[in-house]
Amino acid sequence: MHFLSSGSPSGLSALSLFLLSDLLGTTAGAAIQPRAVPAPYVAASYYPAPHGGWADDWADAYEKALKLVSQMTLAEKTNITGGTGFFMGPCVGNTGSADRLGFPQLCLQDGPLGVRTTDNVTAFPAGITTGATFDKKLMYERGVALGQEFKGKGVNMYLGPSVGPLGRKPRAGRNWEGFGSDPVLQAFAGAETVRGVQDQGCIAVLKHLIGNEQEIQRMFNVGQQGISANIDDRAMHELYLWPFAEGVRAGTAVVMTSYNAVNGSASSQNAYSINGLLKEELGFQGPVMTDWLAHMSGVASALAGLDMSMPGDTQIPVLPGTAYFMYEMTRAALNGSVPMDRINDMATRVVAAWYKLGQDKDYPRPNFSSNTRARTGLLYPAAVFSPSGVVNQYVNVQADHKIIAKQVAQEAITLLKNNGSLLPISTSAPIKVFGTDAQANPDGINKCTDKSCNKGTLGMGWGSGSADYPYMDDPISSLKRKAGNVEFWNTDSFPKNLPDATADDVALVFISSDSGENSYEVEGNHGDRDKSGLKAWHNGDELVQKAAEKYSNVVVVVHTVGPIVMEPWINHPSVKAVVFAHLPGQEAGDSLTEVLFGEVSPSGHLPYTLPVSESDYPESVGIVPNGLGQPQDTFSEGIYIDYRYFQKNGVKPQYAFGHGLSYASFAYSDVRVQAVTPLTTVPPARPAKSGDPIAAMNNTIPPASEALRPEGFKDIFRYRYSFLAENDAKNAYADGAAGKKYPSLPPGYSTTQKEAGQTPAGGPSGGNPALWDVAYVVSLTVTNNGTAHAGKASTQLYVQFPATDNAKYDTPVLQLRDFAKTAALAPGESEAVELTIRRKDVSVWDAELQNWVVPNPEGRFKFWIGDASDSFGAVCYSDSTACETGVPGPL
Ligand code: NOJ
Repeated sequence: MHFLSSGSPSGLSALSLFLLSDLLGTTAGAAIQPRAVPAPYVAASYYPAPHGGWADDWADAYEKALKLVSQMTLAEKTNITGGTGFFMGPCVGNTGSADRLGFPQLCLQDGPLGVRTTDNVTAFPAGITTGATFDKKLMYERGVALGQEFKGKGVNMYLGPSVGPLGRKPRAGRNWEGFGSDPVLQAFAGAETVRGVQDQGCIAVLKHLIGNEQEIQRMFNVGQQGISANIDDRAMHELYLWPFAEGVRAGTAVVMTSYNAVNGSASSQNAYSINGLLKEELGFQGPVMTDWLAHMSGVASALAGLDMSMPGDTQIPVLPGTAYFMYEMTRAALNGSVPMDRINDMATRVVAAWYKLGQDKDYPRPNFSSNTRARTGLLYPAAVFSPSGVVNQYVNVQADHKIIAKQVAQEAITLLKNNGSLLPISTSAPIKVFGTDAQANPDGINKCTDKSCNKGTLGMGWGSGSADYPYMDDPISSLKRKAGNVEFWNTDSFPKNLPDATADDVALVFISSDSGENSYEVEGNHGDRDKSGLKAWHNGDELVQKAAEKYSNVVVVVHTVGPIVMEPWINHPSVKAVVFAHLPGQEAGDSLTEVLFGEVSPSGHLPYTLPVSESDYPESVGIVPNGLGQPQDTFSEGIYIDYRYFQKNGVKPQYAFGHGLSYASFAYSDVRVQAVTPLTTVPPARPAKSGDPIAAMNNTIPPASEALRPEGFKDIFRYRYSFLAENDAKNAYADGAAGKKYPSLPPGYSTTQKEAGQTPAGGPSGGNPALWDVAYVVSLTVTNNGTAHAGKASTQLYVQFPATDNAKYDTPVLQLRDFAKTAALAPGESEAVELTIRRKDVSVWDAELQNWVVPNPEGRFKFWIGDASDSFGAVCYSDSTACETGVPGPL
């Protein structure tokens, strides 16, 4: 294990990092122009940065923000758009403040599944586990609990949810932070998380915009360009941008860019993705921040729409403590390089996000330090000579969140196979347990920084998306609590000389597969599973095979970040049951054993496809290795990832996306479809923008005096401030007054705001509101027609587009569009379920028209209803509004 880049909580690492960076020298602050990428992948020039302040759902927040920002000096405006520097405050990111006006420093903290690098918090199940519940209510409730914990610790911004990566590459390191390899599953889960977190007053930071589909070579550094995700316009809209659109619609107040480049232009200064896609098309009104140390230019990134630099350093945090924003942004404003309407827009977006969440009213201050666990410590560890004080108050924010954490972990448990109904097993069965994954890490549950080891029960992946466990309810403790006859071999090598097996013996074999962030290497894997591939870790295949040779009843329990290949053992007759428990967080024990012993039925479903072999995937989704120049990651499979690819190419998976068995069985009746809003080929025109309050601000360059330190102000060494020395301020102002221009304005640069009509697909908070018009509603009754077990049914709706001879609109065989989960239904019990199809769900993105198009509004859309992407109980037709049961699926 070694430390490579961002995100380490330890002051020591910070120190070594900035000393090392001094040796390497700093990178230039100039814009890094888009690199050549294969045709036709272009990061089109898109200027100017759209002003905020024209969307109704932000109107109140903007009204207040405009008042506050109008009173700010230039240095106050630029102070709140920059971070104070790596390890220069209690949180992983800390903004500057405008204290004079009551605008505080904001605390930004990881991560998506719990408050990182602190104590007394809940380690929730990971995103991928949450996706596997296919339950919107649980997704929301997990968000509520997360929001309460982040707020309780005094965190203003929750650095999540992660909806990019989308999970295009099965080996990619951080897919588990998100919710599954389907844009709609990812979008619903992301949006519900945003709502849950923000309903508590904590700001959600939707990340990472965009194309962060692998870890290796994700970052730009002095030696090499970060990887370029080359994405065509249609795949961008139908896959990768989709969850961002829904997250923006759900009200996310902030968005974070990614490390990689998109179509040759680094994400943090990519005018096409920030200005064009996010702010103009999706009408995003809040601020856009960099990922950590992904900031690479001052003026160029501001013009490209970036609003906040995190953690505030230049690309490499050098000893003198330099920044691209802060004092440099003050200079750029005075000398006219960055127009004042851009500066006002940046500051207003930040303040509006704060007001939108009501954080102006008694929001707690940070009461923890992500730098140390001691009560007292350095206030600014990277300052070299830092004052110290009380930094940790050990506030316990867990409340009763273990209940929702356990419920998510449990309802994600996905039963793939259950031959001969081996499960559930009786608590009196002789149970033989194998595998180190069954027991918590004996070295300590939080032994490895950011979970950068795979030892003991795998409850989460590694990196900034991890959190400390308050405890770990491991499977073996729970098994021993519940069952009378449990023997455990805490080893991954199948023991020799075991007593003969009896016919009643049940062997439980625990295996795992881990991945994480590229900041650590674990067992030869650099974030992505580049070494292990999709094979179970720690010789898991052999452990299962040997157990299957000895015992005739084998249950395999898998803790995993994503797909694994089970081919070596899945068809062994003794391997009767396979259970994916995903990444359960702290509640790995009872959540699982209650399912194994039949106290509850499993109800989780696969949030990705399980292949027979890794060669089932297209070559383009392999990990692109390090190389000379900028690594090119060309998304040549277009819209065909995961099950869309398998289905198009007739590749039979081991288990299909959405698959998951129950002990109960379900039937559909009263299936109906109702047409709601009539469809036209293109959506009705988008609404006009309701005014431009940023243009109405005082956008003239202020006097140089607005850039100066208040009298008597004492600096902390390496802290990033927005002030300029008097001479610098005067010189910058003189340059501006002389009409000097920024020498390398990007091609296509303009200062004229775009009219609404120029972006037909655009609109406030997510895009043209007509895209959300309900086109059809499918309703049905789900009945538990089993006799022995209660269970929750997952109902999934997949759209099949009408056959069309227009090759332009080639569409996947099936696409998930909605899902719902019932309550636990007792045998014989029923529940009414409703599933919705919106205009966007029956549209394709037309890159020429730059709009969403319903290819054939009068044609026959088929709405397949089932419990997996290959298992259907009913189908409805859009043209006749008839529905049928008992029709096999389209494959
Ligand atoms: C880098 C990660 O990519 C991002 O997700 C995280 O929020 C920041 N580091 C801060 O730790």
